[in-house]
Amino acid sequence: MKILATGSYLPTGKLSNDDLSQQVDTNDEWIVTRTGIRNRHLVVNENTSDLATKAARAALRNAGINAAQIQLIIVATSTPDGLIPGVSHQVLKNLEIEQAMAFDVNAACTGFVYALDVAASLMQTHEYEYALVIGSEVMSKVIDWNNRNTCVLFGDGAGAVVLGNADNNHFLYTKCMAIPDVEDVLVSGEFIVNHPLFTSDPNDFYLKMKGQDVFKFAVRVVCESMTQAAAETGIPIEAVDYYVLHQANTRIMEYVARKLQVPVKKFYSSIADTGNTSAASIPIVLDKMWCTGNLKPGMKLMLTGFGAGLTYATILLRW
Ligand code: ACO
Repeated sequence: MKILATGSYLPTGKLSNDDLSQQVDTNDEWIVTRTGIRNRHLVVNENTSDLATKAARAALRNAGINAAQIQLIIVATSTPDGLIPGVSHQVLKNLEIEQAMAFDVNAACTGFVYALDVAASLMQTHEYEYALVIGSEVMSKVIDWNNRNTCVLFGDGAGAVVLGNADNNHFLYTKCMAIPDVEDVLVSGEFIVNHPLFTSDPNDFYLKMKGQDVFKFAVRVVCESMTQAAAETGIPIEAVDYYVLHQANTRIMEYVARKLQVPVKKFYSSIADTGNTSAASIPIVLDKMWCTGNLKPGMKLMLTGFGAGLTYATILLRW
């Protein structure tokens, strides 16, 4: 099992911190110091499946694989176009694939790492040759653009990888976890139950976050998860070439680098230009690394996601 190639797509709409400061009481200095974010891309006339399809096409092109060869499609998203059909099914249709196993995974910002783990397992079980694993989000749908606590943090985008059945398994370690979100530190998109016998309270659909609690959760589980991967594989943390973390916040990466005593430059980041794109962030970073020639065969990469659920996961792989 091996990642053959990557692809990504960022929508053309762009909103800088200065643009946002016209909308809410914020400023570039506050946002950059607290998060590292300078810009975010936002959809104009596109939805989650459009971004996913474009990222998938790029990954297929880079892998030299025809869409018809894909036997499995998994899309990680928590902001689908709608409930039915799944984003994966719309990608299947857009790519004109006659038949394949296709479904969506929702593990919030950790979704792509979960999807990669599931895809690798399914490929082995069913002896699939090729799979598409995509992270795609239109976070702008669940953000209250009048709330400065959250609107400065997020952006839209998609990233994809093509998995192929290599002779050697390049997945050295995978572990996906969830723990209860007892304090509701990160929630969004709650539906109302409304039928002749019962109507639930109207809820705020927009994403709500207890920022400092999320920060503490993130740095704790990321450090634990990365340390555990190193211990269980016998590959020391410092022997890893790049740590590809979910891109939520530069300060989370800096904290983890300090705590684990590894150079912060090994945490490749694209957050300045994209903001937090949830499940899309890790494959977008992978594609940036691929496009800039930073990924060399044999390199060790540690992918670590964390997010609502509360979920977290680490995959250690050889490129
Ligand atoms: N611009 C200016 N001021 C702001 C803004 C803003 N955009 N947002 C909040 N403030 C103000 C607050 O109102 C508060 O003002 P007060 O002191 O007068 O009450 C002050 O700034 C400090 O607010 P805090 O919430 O304490 O700011 P903090 O230093 O914790 O930074 C942040 C907030 C960046 C969200 C931080 O908590 C964080 O990084 N948390 C991690 C959460 C995260 O990354 N979430 C992403 C989604 S979850 C995920 O991807 C897993």
